[in-house]
Amino acid sequence: MQAKHPQDSVCIMTDVVLPGETNPLNNLFGGELLARMDRAASIAAGRHAGRVVVTASVNHVAFNRAIPLGSVVTIEAKVSRTFNSSMETFIDVWTEDRISGERKKANEAIYTFVAVDEHGSPVKVPAIEPQTELEHQRFAAALRRKQLSLVLAGKMNPHDATELKALFI
Ligand SMILES: CC(C)(COP(=O)(O)OP(=O)(O)OC[C@H]1O[C@@H](n2cnc3c(N)ncnc32)[C@H](O)[C@@H]1OP(=O)(O)O)[C@@H](O)C(=O)NCCC(=O)NCCS
Repeated sequence: MQAKHPQDSVCIMTDVVLPGETNPLNNLFGGELLARMDRAASIAAGRHAGRVVVTASVNHVAFNRAIPLGSVVTIEAKVSRTFNSSMETFIDVWTEDRISGERKKANEAIYTFVAVDEHGSPVKVPAIEPQTELEHQRFAAALRRKQLSLVLAGKMNPHDATELKALFI
């Protein structure tokens, strides 16, 4: 299987915040943003894998900045690292000023997807080769995030989480 670059997987989705998608403070409802990010990230992971993918885990979400009603929101998702069947996918969320066009980073998140066959069983995905400095940073840190996710899910013994333990030694 030929290796791919993170850029090959990029999915960019731009949409507006409508009244039915807000909380009582008239900001984008968190669950709506989670769904939008899941959609964009699953397209990115599917592009990388060339297979059906399922969301295995939401590893990190930071709602740093509220997104008001009427905002133009751009979600950019890109695969940051692959393992055997799983892919870590980074999602950056931007808002855009309608007049000046100025973009501000609003949120970011990290989701894990698994490529599956027609029976829902995990299948191998192509390797990934980071190119930019940011892609290298995200690639390097992905293994400890995977180990943390597996430990929290009760799927890995903390004693085996070598990369994670190295952070505290
Ligand atoms: C995700 C799923 C395919 C994993 O299947 P499984 O039988 O547990 O398979 P495995 O234990 O072999 O795990 C497959 C891969 O997922 C990874 N994985 C599983 N759970 C994970 C978690 N919580 N965090 C990170 N990675 C995880 C494993 O590390 C493995 O990665 P690798 O092959 O790259 O090493 C299966 O649990 C599933 O279908 N879940 C439902 C998915 C779904 O419906 N999502 C929609 C939203 S609810």
